[in-house]
Amino acid sequence: MSHDPGQGPESFPRTISATAHPSLAVAKYWGKQTGAINTAATPSVAITLGAIAARTTLTVDCASEGDQPCRDQVVLNGVSQDPRRFRPFFDAVREVITLNCPHQDGGSDQAGECLFFTVRSDNDFPTAAGLASSAAGFAALAASALTATLGERPPEEISRLARIGSGSACRSVYGGFTRWDAGAPAAEQLYPETWWPDLRVVVLPVSSAEKPLSSRDAMNRTRDTSPFYDAWVADAPSLAGETREAIAQRDLERLGQTARLSYLRMFSTMFAAAPPIMYWLPQSLEIIRGLEELRRMGLPVWETMDAGPQVKVITDAAHARQVAEEFRDLLVSPAIISEVGPGVTVGTASDRTV
Ligand code: DP6
Repeated sequence: MSHDPGQGPESFPRTISATAHPSLAVAKYWGKQTGAINTAATPSVAITLGAIAARTTLTVDCASEGDQPCRDQVVLNGVSQDPRRFRPFFDAVREVITLNCPHQDGGSDQAGECLFFTVRSDNDFPTAAGLASSAAGFAALAASALTATLGERPPEEISRLARIGSGSACRSVYGGFTRWDAGAPAAEQLYPETWWPDLRVVVLPVSSAEKPLSSRDAMNRTRDTSPFYDAWVADAPSLAGETREAIAQRDLERLGQTARLSYLRMFSTMFAAAPPIMYWLPQSLEIIRGLEELRRMGLPVWETMDAGPQVKVITDAAHARQVAEEFRDLLVSPAIISEVGPGVTVGTASDRTV
């Protein structure tokens, strides 16, 4: 099938589905450079989590005369979303299409401008509760939007577009282990998902409530008001380098220890913001304390957290189930044991993996 949107409205609508997995940072992105949209101030290193996913179905159509100027619609887990949140993303898609398909015939040189998108996306895990739902969602959205309009595109281009929707989404485009450098337009894959078969992440959901403050607002408040922010940004590259080395050597203890330092330094900057930002719940702290105890007993278990109260434990296959059992009474839904997962897939399950 041709994907040239310049061929006229008769070739629309087109529908494409995509599936992507959350990207769990072991060295955190927290803070944006001013200027370009969602450009990281800190380098991050992440693991794509295979056990949970966002599934997106996107239809692209050509607006006819008299249509509303912005007809994009997004329904997330059955709930209609505020189109303003998605406007910069869809405008970026339209721009990419226009750049790739300029009209040759003296007609409009804005090929993408007439297009609008209708999206349905479903997560199989709690949305907006600090489980990187936006990372998986925008990775799937970027892949489906580009495929529906331009055909198969290189992962760098999908990653760059996903970043416009949500910074961490540029990592979710790839499977395995990823890096996203400060100031970089896109993420890169460090190693495929087969690199470390014994690695497990145990997600411990302690709340299904939507987070009170978006990571975007929290990040910006931290940058604007925390006296620790500059120190955090200055320290992050060495921690990210250490994390990459731990992954290169498949050194679980080193990975666990650096991941702990990264999330705790990130939260320290947040605690010092004005007003302070505190995503943790008593259950989160109880798990953190419990893991300390397990480490004292010799178990290889190290936690990380994101913009929410859930705790994610980095461990190996031999200990994952024990971690899940240990904290069962503190959880609102069963623990999720995840292996390292694949990148975004487009179309049916049997189709391409990036
Ligand atoms: C704590 O990618 O959700 O999970 O770019 O503003 O959409 P925006 O933020 P987002 O932030 C993720 C923050 C984090 C750390 C990480 O994933 O690296």
